[in-house]
Amino acid sequence: MNQQSIRNFAIIAHVDHGKSTLADRLLEITNTVPKEKMAEQFLDQNPISRERGITIKLAPVRMKYKVQDSTSEYILNLIDTPGHVDFSYEVSRTLAACEGAILLVDATQGIQAQTVAHYKEALKETLTLIPVINKIDLPNAQAEIVTKDLNSVFGFKKEEILYISAKNGENVTLLIDEIIKRIPPPSGKKEKPLRALIFDAVYDEFRGVVAYVKVVDGEIKKHDSIKFFQNNVTSEISDIGYFSPNLVSSDKLQTGEIGYVITGIKNIRQCRIGDTIITSQKSEEEVQALPGYQLPKPMVFFGMYPKNSNDFVLLKESLNKLILNDTALTYTDEYSSYLGSGFRVGFLGLLHAEIIKERLKQEFNLDILLTMPQVLYKKSFDSAQDKGKMLEPYMKLSVYTPKDSVGPVMNVCQGRLGELANMAYHDNYVVLSYDMPYSMFIRGLSNELKAASNGYASIDYELSTYKEANLTPLEVRVNDNPIDVLSETIYEEEASRVAREKALKLKNSLPRQQFRQVIQVLVAGNILAREEIPPFRKDVLQKMSGGDRRRKDKLLDAQKKGKSRMLSHAKISIPQEALLSMIENG
Ligand code: GTP
Repeated sequence: MNQQSIRNFAIIAHVDHGKSTLADRLLEITNTVPKEKMAEQFLDQNPISRERGITIKLAPVRMKYKVQDSTSEYILNLIDTPGHVDFSYEVSRTLAACEGAILLVDATQGIQAQTVAHYKEALKETLTLIPVINKIDLPNAQAEIVTKDLNSVFGFKKEEILYISAKNGENVTLLIDEIIKRIPPPSGKKEKPLRALIFDAVYDEFRGVVAYVKVVDGEIKKHDSIKFFQNNVTSEISDIGYFSPNLVSSDKLQTGEIGYVITGIKNIRQCRIGDTIITSQKSEEEVQALPGYQLPKPMVFFGMYPKNSNDFVLLKESLNKLILNDTALTYTDEYSSYLGSGFRVGFLGLLHAEIIKERLKQEFNLDILLTMPQVLYKKSFDSAQDKGKMLEPYMKLSVYTPKDSVGPVMNVCQGRLGELANMAYHDNYVVLSYDMPYSMFIRGLSNELKAASNGYASIDYELSTYKEANLTPLEVRVNDNPIDVLSETIYEEEASRVAREKALKLKNSLPRQQFRQVIQVLVAGNILAREEIPPFRKDVLQKMSGGDRRRKDKLLDAQKKGKSRMLSHAKISIPQEALLSMIENG
């Protein structure tokens, strides 16, 4: 195949601006998927993303296209990308494998937080961008205003912009022609030694690890002996091919092509996303590794326990499989005296955690329990004797909001310790920039912003620095037994309120027992809240007939002593449902 006829591109856009719908039209127009087989949003094969209507995993696809009135045939490799802020690292992975991208903007919504975030990523990769305004069929489309904003924010000229409806296909063929005209073919060298970039990987039950690659230089053939650069692992290629969108075998992949490689590697840790594949005859000195990706850093941590403790091993295996194509997921072992063996799992954000929980359920039939989320805190020490100061991560938060919600949005941000750093007015929206503790996300910031803007605000964030924080540990005890899974780190200012709320909530969740239960919430070692659950009063007098007062008192007395003995010896057992109700509602 002629390298000059390959176009590798992505569609980048804010959530819901129409990426998947546009991808469907492209598949149709190029006859990649016959119309009768076209389930809506074909690329979005992950059942969870279908349910939620957002793209989570990227799925590449190869399309063939003949330009009208010409004999030249082109190969278009489209890589669909996720739009949610929690998954922006996947976008940067995709972009590194492309030469160009369609910057898709909804004509009714205009530029939003992820439009700008993805635009910046694309610039870093020096991609050719085609600005496209979508949904022009809608009566409330504001193509002119959005055109102005595309000009003032990114500098695109009116003549560069395409106006389409991904839904009814208007101007989509024109867009394909522009992709061919404007996006350059891959620039790698055929005669150079092989270098292929792994931009994604999945684990297949039967075939092992399937690596998604872009051949940057040279070519790669079936039965080639290859080496994974970073791990120095050597292996033979058992199958190779491209996505159409299902896997289609071929003999080789040439310079500039995007496809898959199966090597028979079973150990999923050996195939690192971002790694370079080279031929095993070449040494690392002879071939330079391609720039890898910045590994995404998990920011939110949860304890994760199987609801059924027999599922512990299955949970571990399942996490290992998920980690293969989700480099942001990390875990370490954790043990709770109440929930047994589990893991401390790191996620990119709350949505990421929710999605992993659903994937564990749907793909591995696992019911899991996530304990209270925590962000990554640090401690700083001035001297060896120093007890240390708690530091917490801060972010630069950008809120994109319509003009009429600026007031309420500012109120939310100020209430969440945000310091206004900048405010920029555009034609139909405002961008507010704040310095704010990252932990506000786990305290409900996203929902508050949505509510303050009637659902219109969109956000983007970048982690900035660690700052000193008035943080303090909170511990919950029942009859002097610390309940490990209920401990957390909170702000000092909210200590007494949170302590009172926790104590009361636990009181309402715990069933009565034969003995008295004393709930204490300690903050920095001091009891800030206390609740009591009285025991069932067993009627020890029931069997007594006569009314001997002295015997009666003696029995009651014995019962009292028995109870206090039970209290001090009782190894408190807490029903799982009670813990669940505490943990799952935060
Ligand atoms: P994420 O995967 O969540 O990032 O969303 P997406 O960008 O892939 O958006 P998607 O294609 O799922 O479209 C979002 C909604 O907009 C769907 O209800 C589409 O039917 C609708 N939509 C997309 N393009 C058009 C269009 O040109 N016109 C109209 N009227 N609706 C459209």
